[in-house]
Amino acid sequence: MRDIATQGIFVADSLFDNLPTSAVICHNSTGVLPISPEPEWVRWGLVAEGQRLWTNYFGTSFTALLMCLMSGFNIARFGEVLYHNGYAKDAETARVRYSATAFAVADWLRFPLDDVNGRSRQTINKVRAMHTFARRRSRRLFQPEEGVALSQYDMAEVLLAFSGICLQAMKEDFNTHISGAELEPMVHMWRLIGYHLGIQDRFNVCASVERMNSCLQEFNTFCEQRAATARPYTNKLRSMALEGFGTFTGIGSVLLGSMTFDLNYKTDVLQNKSLGERPKIRGLTRASSAGLKRASSVASLVLSSKIGGDVLKQVIYSASDIRNDDRPKFTRYQKSLVLLSEGLDYYVWSPPSSVPFLTMAGFCGIFVGTMLFRHVL
Ligand code: HEM
Repeated sequence: MRDIATQGIFVADSLFDNLPTSAVICHNSTGVLPISPEPEWVRWGLVAEGQRLWTNYFGTSFTALLMCLMSGFNIARFGEVLYHNGYAKDAETARVRYSATAFAVADWLRFPLDDVNGRSRQTINKVRAMHTFARRRSRRLFQPEEGVALSQYDMAEVLLAFSGICLQAMKEDFNTHISGAELEPMVHMWRLIGYHLGIQDRFNVCASVERMNSCLQEFNTFCEQRAATARPYTNKLRSMALEGFGTFTGIGSVLLGSMTFDLNYKTDVLQNKSLGERPKIRGLTRASSAGLKRASSVASLVLSSKIGGDVLKQVIYSASDIRNDDRPKFTRYQKSLVLLSEGLDYYVWSPPSSVPFLTMAGFCGIFVGTMLFRHVL
């Protein structure tokens, strides 16, 4: 990771950086953007297997990624760019923008990655263009000696979050054991996505499982120092993300905050008073209460279970399809109704999964309800 930091911090994306701004912001129109040639190291069978495995661990990996994001706001080079690009404007904006990221990642797991004109690859190229535009907008954020925004180093670090750090959280916080044989395709898939997002081979932390693990080890060693680079906007980014997701999903920002902080990544920044304004989440101080802790453990368990993960996957897929739909725009209420009906359609009317889902939902409802009644209210 150190070699990536010293050299990568000054390197951006040579293929996209010379494009006129008009091409970069028209990222919806096909044919305008260049495409990197397929790398000679790619093994398409391994990539498809990686997609299948990540999809299999959908609930656990997306919950772990949310934890990584909350923790990642600590990193000044990342948080500064997000903040400057409007991610902490308000809760609704935060929800819309992080959901868009989730939809894009879901596309990458779902649609073939070897089809240049397919939805996966189109989305990857669109994101590469978005990053290029964000880099241009962030030109004045760093001093010359601090390198460029969204440099190869920053991209490598976030790629590590999507792969190694996520896998680590899945193992440590959700007890998800991934075998050595599964790791190779899962890492290879991210290697290819990183490549098409503009990460050069010498900076690609997913070049192999060994490379990813050694970068992860180094990342962990410096994790606390990274947390020390957190700035006041770290709290703001975090509050808006929790409020946006917590309100929209109905989980509530307090429970969501408790879920993401009571696990491995703890309350590091929330307890750092030198950062000034703390997240304005009603009752966050109660996040340490025993009842809420237990409720958050149950919620994490549900999300990381196969059935919980399937529900989450279905919701994200449906929302992503609605977003990609060319028909006239749905209103928010129509969207909620469509999601609800699609969820019911999928779970209630598809016989293999309806019985366990309804049983599990019933038990969880009774359990969470009793606990909330006894400990929180
Ligand atoms: C492999 C690494 C990365 C992946 C997989 C990734 C993923 C994404 C995705 C899927 C989007 C699109 C969201 C949408 O459709 O609205 C996005 C946008 C964005 N990303 Fe990344 N990202 C990575 C690295 C980074 C880094 C290192 C930074 C900042 C230091 C960053 C900052 C941003 C910003 C500011 C946008 C919004 C751009 C805009 O609204 O025009 N990303 N990213």
